[in-house]
Amino acid sequence: MIKVDSGKCIGCMQCVKDCFPNDIQMINGKAKVNNITCIKCGHCIAVCPKGAVSTDEYNMKDVKDYNKEEFTVDADNLLNLIKFRRSVRQFTNKEVEEEKITKIIESGRFTQTGINLQDVSYIVVREGLDELKSLTFQTLSNVGKNLLDNLTPETMPFKKYGQMWIKMYEEYKKNPIENDKLFFNAPAVIIVTANSPLNGALASSNMELMTNALGLGTFFSGFFVKAAEENKKIMDLLGVKDGKKIVTCMVIGYPNVKYLRTVPRKKADICWT
Ligand SMILES: Cc1cc2nc3c(=O)[nH]c(=O)nc-3n(C[C@H](O)[C@H](O)[C@H](O)COP(=O)(O)O)c2cc1C
Repeated sequence: MIKVDSGKCIGCMQCVKDCFPNDIQMINGKAKVNNITCIKCGHCIAVCPKGAVSTDEYNMKDVKDYNKEEFTVDADNLLNLIKFRRSVRQFTNKEVEEEKITKIIESGRFTQTGINLQDVSYIVVREGLDELKSLTFQTLSNVGKNLLDNLTPETMPFKKYGQMWIKMYEEYKKNPIENDKLFFNAPAVIIVTANSPLNGALASSNMELMTNALGLGTFFSGFFVKAAEENKKIMDLLGVKDGKKIVTCMVIGYPNVKYLRTVPRKKADICWT
């Protein structure tokens, strides 16, 4: 429940004006949250000039007062960070500290979700990586074989992936360390699951930026997501909750590669009207 401390409320109406679901009314010059249509977005907490609004459902210690120095990112620096980030596939064998993983997840937790659903979950895999890797390689190889055995005009463009997955598994079996073309010997993986893939993807994107800001490297493994879609055993091994889909798999470690510049891209496809 969202509550207003009427002793602190000055009746400025800021919370009423900013309440998108229209759940706050003024009674005798004081704001009152009805908690009926409220989506717990916290705008009323963030906008109140007197800090009069709080909730007993979330941790109020998460709330930080604004200050310019700590809350502002220069626009050009932000753009450079976005341009300079790369998919990292070469890792040192240094473990990723738990505090860093926690911070990456924090950046996902505070990412916006549709109707403030907050439906994104995280599975951190470290010790169980070898078992997960082996099952994933095997699954992709089977998917590849199945694809090649049943090629149709529609699946023809994916033939090269079928061939690639079979080869990847064969080489992995020969030398799992040298030929790990799935997780590239990274020490950690975070699997992002959500009811809404869009919410999970938005969270993942912020998590990727945070990973880079922490001096770590990552890439999204679409191959892993494909394998998990094809083999329920992977979902069971990870304990993915009912109703949740695996949205992304972030392979994380300390980079063993240094990029010296940004890369070129296609021109933006924009329609100004
Ligand atoms: C949804 C998604 C899935 C991806 N899947 C894989 C993957 O399975 N294996 C891999 O090595 N890279 C994967 N990548 C990385 C892309 O190949 C990479 O983002 C792209 O080539 C651009 O390079 P950059 O990330 O360094 O800018 C994936 C990227 C995205 C966004």
